[in-house]
Amino acid sequence: MKFFIDTANVEDIKKANDMGVICGVTTNPSLIAKEGRVFEKVIAEIASIVDGPISGEVRATTTDAESMIREGREIAKIHKNMVVKIPMTVEGLKAVKVLSSEGIKTNVTLIFTANQALLAARAGASYVSPFLGRLDDISTKGIDLVAEIAEMFDVAGIETEIIAASVRNPIHVTECALAGADIATVPYKVIEQMTHHPLTDAGIEKFKQDYLAVFGE
Ligand code: E4P
Repeated sequence: MKFFIDTANVEDIKKANDMGVICGVTTNPSLIAKEGRVFEKVIAEIASIVDGPISGEVRATTTDAESMIREGREIAKIHKNMVVKIPMTVEGLKAVKVLSSEGIKTNVTLIFTANQALLAARAGASYVSPFLGRLDDISTKGIDLVAEIAEMFDVAGIETEIIAASVRNPIHVTECALAGADIATVPYKVIEQMTHHPLTDAGIEKFKQDYLAVFGE
């Protein structure tokens, strides 16, 4: 399983990129709004940091296929690595069909059932994004959805990649990797949490003390 970072914050993207662990970025309208900056500028800056797929979503107020297609074409023009993120609706699927026929990559977002993922894949989506954390929030096991989609795509030989999204903690990450997600898109905080273990920290301190006791500074 590969890692994308799920943020529009360029400082967090730089930090994760410097660690060498991420190969793409996902954003959404809430993450863009949180930064309070112009969409195209933020995306262009992100593209100058990470050399990999960058998902930029159509405007949250856009609901018809024609407008999504128009916006999707504009998003694709920002950079060669752009992936157009489209919500899972009938209109969204129509937009995915057209954009993918033009060679524009798409990521169908807000996936909460395996059937939605199957439809998105058949419409031509390059990626589907099942949101596991939001399912967990309503007492439904989000990881079961990721596993179900992975099995379904495997059985049908579907090449659309699964981006496990709404990843909230390190246990989610382990579960996604075991469930067969191709990618997990993870906030910086979770990447950072994954680097730690109390025994690692204690081991570093012990090595330091043992070394200093004999050799000094
Ligand atoms: C995915 O593409 C979304 O941007 C994101 O993972 C949503 O996460 P949240 O449910 O924590 O807001």
